[in-house]
Amino acid sequence: MIQLLHGDCLTLMKEVEPGSVDLVLCDPPYSSGGTHAGDRKANTTAKYTDRDFDGAARLPAFSGDNMDQRSFTAFMRWVCSELRQKTREGGILEIFVDWRNLPAMTDAVQMAGWVWRGVIVWDKGTSRNQPGRFRNDCEYVVWCSNGDLPIDWKAAKGIKAMPGVYHVPMVNPKQRFHQTEKPVELLERLLAICPPGGTVLDAFMGSGSTGVAAVRTGRSFIGMELSDQYFEIASSRIREENERALEDF
Ligand SMILES: C[S@@+](CC[C@H](N)C(=O)[O-])C[C@H]1O[C@@H](n2cnc3c(N)ncnc32)[C@H](O)[C@@H]1O
Repeated sequence: MIQLLHGDCLTLMKEVEPGSVDLVLCDPPYSSGGTHAGDRKANTTAKYTDRDFDGAARLPAFSGDNMDQRSFTAFMRWVCSELRQKTREGGILEIFVDWRNLPAMTDAVQMAGWVWRGVIVWDKGTSRNQPGRFRNDCEYVVWCSNGDLPIDWKAAKGIKAMPGVYHVPMVNPKQRFHQTEKPVELLERLLAICPPGGTVLDAFMGSGSTGVAAVRTGRSFIGMELSDQYFEIASSRIREENERALEDF
């Protein structure tokens, strides 16, 4: 089952049945860029692309990325609270964030009632050059459960823990569908915590990378996106992936 919803995720949330989701895997706007509140006010093309026409600067900018830290915390708390209502007891939240807003995100998820369980590291393998300084070449996934997450040690015999660090290269800007696209390979690996055939929700799906990963791994998908252009791109990407999956079946 694939359900793609166009609009503001907070408005669209009413379309989703409470307790029906196994995994929320979301990549919201980071409201990042620069170290000062003023730097966050620039648009996403200025903040996240290299202005090279053939690179990600050719893709549409997106909104929702200009919040200061207080507003970001309040917004994420609100969204994560709605997302928790849609998730079954024992379901999982995985939410992307960068280093600047990592403390705000871990506050927001806990305020929304999730049990914060850890921070997964995505090593992108590259970042902007900062001579004489440490690179910021990782992004993070805050992961949580909706209530208890007991381990049944008997049933878990032979099952390995999943890695906490993923070394997956960024998508080449020239091949991207979205300015801040996440690699499908990374998303597929993050989906491993969702039961086979389970339901995945992405409230900020952008170009639909999580949906592509869900289709490839045989899960149901609910995706939401505000931008007209990115909603179109996500719809056609996911539709094509689904047609390929049906042909292979
Ligand atoms: C970081 S991008 C997601 C990129 C995606 N992971 C991909 O690989 O293409 C965040 C997306 O959230 C969308 N967005 C911003 N505010 C939103 C809202 N209130 N409801 C739904 N989508 C929103 C933006 O338009 C943007 O495309």
